[in-house]
Amino acid sequence: MSTTSDRGPIGVFDSGLGGLTVLRSMIDVLPQEPLIYFGDTARFPYGPKPPDEVLKYAIEIGDMLIDRGARAIVVACNSAAAAALDVLKERLSVPVLGVIEPGMVAAARVTRSGRVGVIGTVGTIASGAYERAAAALDTDLELTCTPCPGFVEFVEAGDVDSEQVHVLAERLLAPLTSVSVDTLVLGCTHYPLLARTIGDVMGPNVTLVSSADETAAAVSALLGSPSPDASRPPGDHKFLTSGDVETFRRLGERFLGPEVHAVEQWTWS
Ligand code: DGL
Repeated sequence: MSTTSDRGPIGVFDSGLGGLTVLRSMIDVLPQEPLIYFGDTARFPYGPKPPDEVLKYAIEIGDMLIDRGARAIVVACNSAAAAALDVLKERLSVPVLGVIEPGMVAAARVTRSGRVGVIGTVGTIASGAYERAAAALDTDLELTCTPCPGFVEFVEAGDVDSEQVHVLAERLLAPLTSVSVDTLVLGCTHYPLLARTIGDVMGPNVTLVSSADETAAAVSALLGSPSPDASRPPGDHKFLTSGDVETFRRLGERFLGPEVHAVEQWTWS
């Protein structure tokens, strides 16, 4: 009989550590699934890079994860999904999911007024990917999308609630507070770690949507993963980084928790 562990792992990738917020939800929802995570920390960040460059990186990573036996790919990076999801879906022979559509679906479900905000990196917002995802849903959403350059750097520095990050958030989020959105999609892997500051600025009537849980649920539905079953052993989790292994392990715990072990170095040839 085939069990999840005789099937290949689900490959998950991001420009660095942020995608571990998505992996966290996947481990919680799919504890028995084997997972392989690639963080392209040597080429981080993707957000400010031109879309062609991010596309090239995403293709290399997708091919590498398939070579390592992945039976599905989760693009756990908004900037990479914005630049590469359609190409990866066509190119790869396995199911490919991104974080953008699940985030938009969740926002459409929770909004009461239909006025939804989206924040992301410069690359994600410039791509128009969230507008396309909203248009694909059969609902009347009024979308306001705005980039938040600087947020990722604060999170990377471990600063999620200082006066400086608060001041930056007030400035960057002003286009959203001024149009009274009632729902805000955190369209970047790093932003869930800033949820308290973002929530303070947006106020208590705005629901923050992180695509991590929604993506994990979409993966489970797509792959027909069995429900968690405490009598079965947990899935094997492997981590690869193109950057420094020790830094990945140390900082990875901030995003994922204690499960970051067996980190392997990956070098692009
Ligand atoms: N992972 C990226 C994203 O979700 C944020 C960090 C980066 O710029 O690479 O857009």
